[in-house]
Amino acid sequence: MMAKAWNQTRVSELLGIEYPIIQGPLGGLSSQRLTSAVSNFGGLGSFGAHGLEPNAIEDVIAEIRSLTAKPFAMNLWVSMEDAEAHTSDAVTFRKALSHLSPHIEALGGTQPEFAPYKPIRFEDQARVLLDANVPAFSFIYGIPPKEILDEARKRGIVTLGTATTPDEAIALEQAGVEVVVASGFEAGGHRGSFLRPAQDSLTGTFSLVPQAVDAVKVPVVAAGGIADARGIAAAFALGAEGVQMGTVFLACEESGAHPLHRQAILSGRAGRTALTQGFTGRLARGIDNELLQMLNKPGTGILPYPVQRGLMRSLALPAQKAGRSDLLALWAGQSANLARCPGIQQLLQSLVEGTAERLNHGAKE
Ligand SMILES: Cc1cc2nc3c(=O)[nH]c(=O)nc-3n(C[C@H](O)[C@H](O)[C@H](O)COP(=O)(O)O)c2cc1C
Repeated sequence: MMAKAWNQTRVSELLGIEYPIIQGPLGGLSSQRLTSAVSNFGGLGSFGAHGLEPNAIEDVIAEIRSLTAKPFAMNLWVSMEDAEAHTSDAVTFRKALSHLSPHIEALGGTQPEFAPYKPIRFEDQARVLLDANVPAFSFIYGIPPKEILDEARKRGIVTLGTATTPDEAIALEQAGVEVVVASGFEAGGHRGSFLRPAQDSLTGTFSLVPQAVDAVKVPVVAAGGIADARGIAAAFALGAEGVQMGTVFLACEESGAHPLHRQAILSGRAGRTALTQGFTGRLARGIDNELLQMLNKPGTGILPYPVQRGLMRSLALPAQKAGRSDLLALWAGQSANLARCPGIQQLLQSLVEGTAERLNHGAKE
C-alpha cells in the first residue's frame, strides 16, 4: 500500500488546506497581504489581531477575505494584560522611562506622558471572530471560556491553542481545542505560557513536540526554530502533523516588520537571540542587541504587560526614523540566521519541495 503524502495530515484535513504549513500570527507585525499570500499558496496564513480594537479586527477580516477565498486564521491573546497593569502608576512609569529618556532625547523623539491603561477585552475581540465565521481561530496565553469554544465548534471554526508544556497541551485538549500548537522556546515573539510562569516553562521544540504528541490525541503543530525544509521534516519525524513558522515569514517583504527589522534577520548576522521582559512586560525572544541588553540589566523597572509595550513605542518611532536597529525590538527566533525569503511563493515552494524530498518515500502526492 502506498504511504500517505507528507502533507495529508489531520491538520491539513481539518483546516481544508493543501499544505500543513502555518504562517504564525505576528501580533503587531501581521499584514493582510502576508496572511492572504500564504493562504493563496495552500498553507494557512494567520493574522495576529490581539492589539486591535474589535471594529479594526472586522476590517482586517474583510480585507483578508477580499484577497483570498482560502482558509486563514485570526489570532488573539486570551490573557490581555497582567493584573498589575490596572494599578500601574505615574511613579513606576517615570522610573521605567528614566532608562529610555536619554535615548529618546538623543534621537529627537517625544518623551511620553503617563496615561492610565485602557483595556481591550478578549471577549469583545472574540465576538467579532465568531460573528465573522472566520475559518480558524488561534490563540495563546490561555484557554477561551467554554461558551466561546462551544460557539466556535457550532459554527465550524477550527480552534488552535498554543502550549509551551505538555501539561498545557493536555489542558487545551480537555477544553475541546481541536489543534495544539506546541511552541518550543526557540520561537520568536512571546512565550504564551499559561499554567506556570513562562520562565518555568522553557521547553525546547525537540523535547516538547514528541511529549505533546504522546500526551494528547488531537493533532499537534510544531512551532519554534523551524526555518527550512529540514526543520519541517524533523518536526514531522517527531510526530507533528503541521508546522507553524514565524521568524521566516517576518523576514518577507509582505510582513508588517520595519525594513531595518527584516534586514537584521536576513543579514545572516542576527547572531544570538535572547529572552527579555523588557520589550512589552512579558517574556519574549528577540535579537540580543543593545536595547535588549539594556532592558535586561537589573533595576530597569520593567512595567507590567501591556504598559511596558506602550512605553517602548516612544523609543521605537524615533529609532526607526534614525535607522538605529540597535535600539529597536528585533523580534526573532533562534533560527533567524537560517531565514531566507526570496518571495512568499518561492519560499513556500522550496519548503514544500524540500519537505517532500525528505519525507515522501514512495508516497502518493
Ligand atoms: C514578531 C512576532 C510576533 C508574534 N505574535 C504572535 C501572536 O500575536 N500570537 C501568537 O500566537 N504567536 C505569535 N508569534 C509566534 C509565531 O506565530 C510563531 O509561533 C513563532 O514565531 C514560531 O517560531 P519561529 O519564530 O522560530 O519560527 C509571534 C512571533 C513573532 C516573531
